[in-house]
Formats: sequence, structure tokens, C-alpha cells
Amino acid sequence: MLLIVRPANCSLKRYCGVSYRRITTSISSLSHDSNHPVRSEKIENRRRKMMLSKILRVDHAGEVGADRIYAGQMAVLGKTEYGPVIQEMWDQEKAHVNKFRELLPEYKVRPTIMLPLWNIAGFALGAGTALLGKEGAMACTIAVEEVIGGHYDRQLRELLNEDPEKYKELLEVIKQFRDDELEHMETGIEYDGEKAPFYSLLKSVIQVGCHGAIWVSERI
Ligand SMILES: [Fe+2]
Ligand SMILES: [Fe+2]
Repeated sequence: MLLIVRPANCSLKRYCGVSYRRITTSISSLSHDSNHPVRSEKIENRRRKMMLSKILRVDHAGEVGADRIYAGQMAVLGKTEYGPVIQEMWDQEKAHVNKFRELLPEYKVRPTIMLPLWNIAGFALGAGTALLGKEGAMACTIAVEEVIGGHYDRQLRELLNEDPEKYKELLEVIKQFRDDELEHMETGIEYDGEKAPFYSLLKSVIQVGCHGAIWVSERI
């Protein structure tokens, strides 16, 4: 083993200090290298933490967006005969977002910095599509919930592959929410969302936006 000792009277203290720290760090990592479990456990913990941060941050963002979409729909259609059915879905979204508000601090994850934009964009999307009529609102519901359902499915697969026992609670939460979102999508179909004007175009544009929002929210 190579040992370098900084002389007490070294005139290049700053330089020697840096070198000394670098060398001792290298020695320390070398000794960990020869003891793989210590190093790999640290790397593994960091990887898991990053995976969980990504999952919780994007899910919280998505539920905030969904809450605002239904708020926008209710602002336009709340007093029509479709108000109660939209309200029912909105209430479930409120429960979803509240659950992620609890989970973020529990897992020490910060929310996405894009939250203010998703608040505005969600409300604008909900109200804008509702202005096309209840078919427009329901087309928006189909488009959004299809993407979110698929997104939750991918997360379920990821967590199941990772460690089903360790992530039991989170798996149950996501599975329940996935089922709720798919039920919302079915409601959208049942209430003629597919009969909205320019349905295919509308759905594609909304879904591209959702995928973009997911991509961004996972990262920042
Ligand atoms: Fe939701
Ligand atoms: Fe939903």
C-alpha cells in the first residue's frame, strides 16, 4: 500500500491538502473495492432512492394535474346533469393527490418544480375541453386516463421486478389508483367521449402533452 504523508512544514499547504485528500479518498475506495458488499450496498441504495423519487414525483404531479382537469371540467359543466359524474371522479382524484402529498415527505422526495405550470395547464385543459361540450370533457378524460393507467402499469411492473415485499404498500396504492383511472376512462367512453368533435386528433394531442408532462416531471 502506498502511504503519502504531508510534511508539517509544507509550504504548498493548499496544494498538498488537496492531494492528500484525493489520495486518502482513493485508498479508502480501494479498500471498499476489495470489500464489494459495502460499496455495492451504497450504490444500490442510491439507485433505489432515485427510482422511488422518480416514481413519487411524477405520480404526485400527475394527480395534481388530474385534480385540476376535473376542477376545470366542473367549472364549466358542474351545474349540468353531468356534474355529479364528474364530481365523483374529481373526488377520487382529490384522494389520490392527498395520498401522494402524504407519501412525498415520508419518502423524503421533493415535488416537481413544474407544479405551478401543471396547475394552470390542467385547469385550462379541463375547462377548454368542457367548453366543447360533455363529449369534449369525456374525450379529455379518456385520453388522460388511458395514459395514466398505462403509466401506473409500467410502475407496477418496475416495483414488482424490484422487490414486491419491500414496496408492498406502494404497490397497493398504485394498483388501486390504476384501477380508478381505468374506471374513469370507461366512464368517459360510456358518456360519449368518443363522439367528441375531432376525437382522434384531440385524443392524440392531449396524450402527447401527457407523455411530455410525465417525461419532464420524472426528471425535474
Ligand atoms: Fe388519479
Ligand atoms: Fe383519474
